[in-house]
This record gives sequence, structure tokens and C-alpha cells, in this order.
Amino acid sequence: MARPRVLVTRRWPAAVEARLCDRYDAEFNRSDTPLTPTQFREALATYDAVLPTVTDKLGPEAMDVPRAKTRILANYGVGFSHIDVDRAARHGMTITNTPDVLSECTADLAMTLLLMVARRAGEGEREVREGRWTGWRPTHLVGTKVSGKVLGLVGFGRIGQEMARRAHHGFGMKIKVFNRSPVAPDILARYDAEQVATLDELMPLCDFISLHCPGGAANRRLIATRQLNLMKPDAFLINTARGEVVDELALSRALWFETIGGAALDVFDGEPRINPDLMNCDNLVMLPHLGSATREARDAMGFRVLDNLDDFFDGRPPRDKVA
Ligand code: DGY
Repeated sequence: MARPRVLVTRRWPAAVEARLCDRYDAEFNRSDTPLTPTQFREALATYDAVLPTVTDKLGPEAMDVPRAKTRILANYGVGFSHIDVDRAARHGMTITNTPDVLSECTADLAMTLLLMVARRAGEGEREVREGRWTGWRPTHLVGTKVSGKVLGLVGFGRIGQEMARRAHHGFGMKIKVFNRSPVAPDILARYDAEQVATLDELMPLCDFISLHCPGGAANRRLIATRQLNLMKPDAFLINTARGEVVDELALSRALWFETIGGAALDVFDGEPRINPDLMNCDNLVMLPHLGSATREARDAMGFRVLDNLDDFFDGRPPRDKVA
């Protein structure tokens, strides 16, 4: 039987590429830059499987092919709001993702951001590197204590729960949760967490708010002026979820006028473009979408894509089928 033809849209970890080539007739986009809509249309007409990642825009334009050859989009990444799921369904395509294997590393990064913004680590690093540090003094770059504070989690899936584990067991933080569906009492009990009914209820209760919900239309601008105004004046917002969940103009105003204490973002609306309004906010930490960027997580994500692909081409239901 002919080996399935697959297209990988970016460079992958070497060990994952090697295993892929053992079984599949694989081509890689060695330029490691996003494919254009035209290139995607060509790919969907040519390959049995396309293996995109979270920065590939598979919207209406890229998927506008009369007859697709591609039967599976095996996504490298957990979020799949970049894929037009309805259009993929009309082409009869299966979509899979890579949950679980990046949850711990993404929660580690969310905790890193929380600590950085609370302790003004970004400001301090810039000061040292730019030669502006004039020495220790009692009032220099004084931040906020983290231990024992209240952390609000928006979304309580795998990553939200890993964040709760770190914050509660490591830092003695009190955990409040807003999640669209009810969370099982035994899961809340693991972190001594309380689920509140609405986002409006959560915002004023917390010293830190960390976002762990999916992107996409349902959560677009979930955090906007109204929600930011409900935060305590010294509270912090952390986003490792998706840029589109936060109204960045509203956030830049809240940071500029210091109606909140600060924010830390790993993801941006329209990234890698950064909204210029955010650039001059000192009380903001920004990282270039590093949530899952460890060797361990990136290897595991790749192998998970391959497991899904093997399931599909062996005629089994892929374990991470999302559509
Ligand atoms: C994902 O997988 O959705 C992350 O954003 C990239 O690790």
C-alpha cells in the first residue's frame, strides 16, 4: 500500500521528524514561516494529511478548495481556534490536537509570568541590562507578595488545574474558579478551590487573574473594559491562553492609567504583531508565546500528533479527535 503523503507546515523536533518519515511520505516547510492561503489550498488538494500548528491560519480563504484530498488535519498544539472547523467538516476532514502533554509546562510559564509581574522582574531586568541600576535601596522596585493571595482561574481544564496545583500547594494561594460548566467537587477539593457562578463575581475577589480558557468566537474579548474595571486596583492579569481573549486596547488603558496593578502576556491578538499601545506600559511583562516551549513538551506534542495520525491511517478513532 502506498505510504500516505503528509505535509508538515513547520520545522519539528528532530526525533519526531525521524519517526514521521519512518512511516509516511513526509514533506516539511523548511522555511519555517506560515504558509500563504494559496499554499494551503494547494496542500489540501495534494496531501492525504496536513500537519499544521497553532499559528497557521486555516480560515475560509485557505480552505476554499473545490475538492480536498486531505482527510486529516493533525494539529501540533492543543488550541485549534485557528482552524475553520465547519469548513473542515464540509470537506469531511478529521481534526486532532495534542492535549495533556503540554499542561505542566504551560502552567509553569503562567506561574513564571505571575511571579515576574508581581515582583517586577521584567522592569528590574531591563534596568540592569540598560545600565540604569543605581544600587539597593528600601523603596526600589518594590513589588507584591504572592504567597497567600487569591488567584482567580478563568477556565479549569488541564492547564488551569496545573496552575491551581502550583499556586495552592507551592505558594499557599487561595483558588477561585470561573468555568462555564460545573467542576466536580473532588477536583475542586484537590486545591481547596471554590467555583463562582460568573466572571463578574470572580474579578473583584482576586489579587491575580490567570486565563486558561480556549480562544475562538465564544471567548473573544471575554476580558474587556467592564471586566478590567471590576478588578482590584492592585490586581494582576496573566494570559497564557489566547490573545483574542483580551481586549488589548482596554488592557493598555487599564495599565496606562494604573486602574490595575499590571499584566503579563504570553499571547497576543494578531501575534506576532504587538499592539503598539502595549509597548510603553512598564507594568506589563511580555513573552513570545513560550507556554509549551520546553524540549520535553515539544517532543511529546509531536509524538502525540504521530499517534493520532497512526490511529487514523490504521482505521482506529484518533485519541485526540476534536472534530
Ligand atoms: C497550544 O498548543 O495551543 C499552545 O498555544 C502552543 O503550545
